[in-house]
Amino acid sequence: MIFLILENENEIKSEYLSYLKSDWHIIKDFNSDMDNSLVDAIIIRSKITVDSHLLDSYPNLKYVCRVWVWLDKIDLPECTKRWIKVINTPWANSASVADLVIWGILSLLRKTSNKWTSLDDRFQFFWENLENKKIWFIGFGNIAKKLQSRISGFETNEFFFYDPYIDSDVWEVKKISDKNEILSNCDIISFHIPLTPETKNFLWKDEFLILKNNAKIINTSRWGIIDENALIKFLSINPNSGAFLDTWEEEPENPKKELKDLENCIITPHIGAMTEESNKNMHIFKEFIK
Ligand SMILES: NC(=O)c1ccc[n+]([C@@H]2O[C@H](COP(=O)([O-])OP(=O)(O)OC[C@H]3O[C@@H](n4cnc5c(N)ncnc54)[C@H](O)[C@@H]3O)[C@@H](O)[C@H]2O)c1
Repeated sequence: MIFLILENENEIKSEYLSYLKSDWHIIKDFNSDMDNSLVDAIIIRSKITVDSHLLDSYPNLKYVCRVWVWLDKIDLPECTKRWIKVINTPWANSASVADLVIWGILSLLRKTSNKWTSLDDRFQFFWENLENKKIWFIGFGNIAKKLQSRISGFETNEFFFYDPYIDSDVWEVKKISDKNEILSNCDIISFHIPLTPETKNFLWKDEFLILKNNAKIINTSRWGIIDENALIKFLSINPNSGAFLDTWEEEPENPKKELKDLENCIITPHIGAMTEESNKNMHIFKEFIK
């Protein structure tokens, strides 16, 4: 099979694709001068749009391989019509996001995000354990599952999830379908859902009134899921509450000042997937591993 890399080295690391090389597989880079009709698979990342125009250039294409967790910018119906299989690596960054959330939760619980004061001030760090907290996952996909298995190690055993696309309890994690039940009971609520018309505004103004006044809110998903102005208000009037955000409303601009200034809010600059391992995993197409 001939794989053609269509994006440059900064985007796609050919050394991470070396596992593909074998007696059957040949990898060509985007500079190679080759007959497009020989190409069986194209390898892309995030810049190239796969539409009928591009597909017409590769008349014998069998695979579109995307070094990325999402399938946006790919005309999926058109690929299906042409019997072209589209593959990606949706699991690739789950571990790195889950690790970051653990850091965020512990930093919130111990108030240690970015401050060093003096030994005399240590009583302001007198805070909470993670053990025995009630943790709610909104969306129970790849990241939430990794996160749950990590938090279990902290001897926290009260896990719940809200995910209408999963039928029943998963392992020791209990499915809850009533959103208000979640909001009124949670110690820690962690969002792991895509932004869709259905999930937009999931946690909105009035719903903040139901939350416990020391609830910790984690959002590493996408902005738009949580009403940011209502969050700011909630955090301001409830000093024992907290939020850890890896995404915010103004993206790609910086978060608003009111949010950044809050003592009980930790914000990271959308770094959930930014580990070397995530990047490497995004190049691993299990389909071609014998
Ligand atoms: N911060 C980052 O850098 C970073 C990196 C990767 C992913 N993400 C975000 O994390 C989200 C989760 O990623 P994942 O890999 O776990 O995705 P996933 O597809 O494995 O899981 C998403 C889950 O959300 C559920 N879901 C869909 N609609 C829902 C709804 N209306 N209510 C409740 N649950 C719903 C799905 O059933 C699924 O189980 C992504 O959508 C993405 O926005 C962020």
